[in-house]
Amino acid sequence: MKVLLTGSAGFIGSHVAEALTEAGHEVAGLDLRAGADVRDGAAVDRLMPGAEVVVHQAAKVGLGVDVADLPDYAAVNVYGTAVLLAAMARHGVGRLVLASSMVVYGEGAYDCAEHGAVRPAARAEDDLVRGFFEPRCPRCGAALTSASIGEDAPMDPRNAYATTKLAQEHLAANWARETGGVAVALRYHNVYGPRMPRDTPYSGVAAIFRSALEAGRAPRVFEDGGQRRDFVHVRDVARANVAALDAGRPGTLAAYNVASGEPHTVGEMAAALAAERGGPEPVTTGEYRLGDVRHIVASPSLAGKELGFTAAIGFGEGMREFARAPLG
Ligand code: UD1
Repeated sequence: MKVLLTGSAGFIGSHVAEALTEAGHEVAGLDLRAGADVRDGAAVDRLMPGAEVVVHQAAKVGLGVDVADLPDYAAVNVYGTAVLLAAMARHGVGRLVLASSMVVYGEGAYDCAEHGAVRPAARAEDDLVRGFFEPRCPRCGAALTSASIGEDAPMDPRNAYATTKLAQEHLAANWARETGGVAVALRYHNVYGPRMPRDTPYSGVAAIFRSALEAGRAPRVFEDGGQRRDFVHVRDVARANVAALDAGRPGTLAAYNVASGEPHTVGEMAAALAAERGGPEPVTTGEYRLGDVRHIVASPSLAGKELGFTAAIGFGEGMREFARAPLG
């Protein structure tokens, strides 16, 4: 297929470009680093003719530093997507694969021994100060056990980035309904791998730990290190994008978790990277960030069933490579 790939020079986008090309697709890239801004309708118009599908990876990522970031998140992620969708309609391009994120869920899924499946509110600072990190049952206050989250979980975006990712999904659904187009949203879990951008205030934890180790510093593991995530390798994420090219149904947006299905704690991830590099050993600090969710792990089963996508790179193998791989 002829693919217009936005964010083609970025961490994930560059791997998607390689996977698309290897699968025999023809890729036209749009990237700020190549001087093309997704917010620029004229630039998008120049690249859109002939495209059969748009794979939209361009975004401002990370959690942001403070509210001063809000206009930039809204402009790049929300307005940029709106410009792209309007151009797709003008050029009769009927397929979209959208890079979404697990952050649209907010906290993960939890079970209370007494009340079954519950969705806890943000953790209270009183608990965090005392070193009690597990969310509590909203009905009885008991500590919860974490469960894997499915795509039908309620949306609960808790920061600017999450809000704009959810807005992108809503705009894409809107475009699909209005035009009869097919939209597939891939909700990436914690993506890591070669070319991950090094340590910035916008970086994910894997890049922060990897950068620290390279500089000879110990990874600083917040809370008690027991927070669970699904670390999914960037080449698997790229394969999920290829698998999504011919998925979905006209007039709708279908959303899929893109995850390894093999959850690990942040402490385990730090230990794996440190062991591979021969130290320094991670330090568990008990620090916390108010905006962090405790556990979020995915059910990968819908992507397996409907996209035929299953992650191929396991945690041990992926972290061994990442410990030495070049950062972006
Ligand atoms: C991350 C991304 C988010 C992305 C999502 C899914 C960032 C900042 N967050 O969310 O944008 O959509 O993955 O791909 O990019 N931690 C430490 N030490 C540190 C930094 C963090 O222990 O130095 C801990 C945090 O307290 C948290 C966990 O690591 O418990 C994950 O942090 P992080 O990667 O920043 O955010 P996610 O919520 O996983």
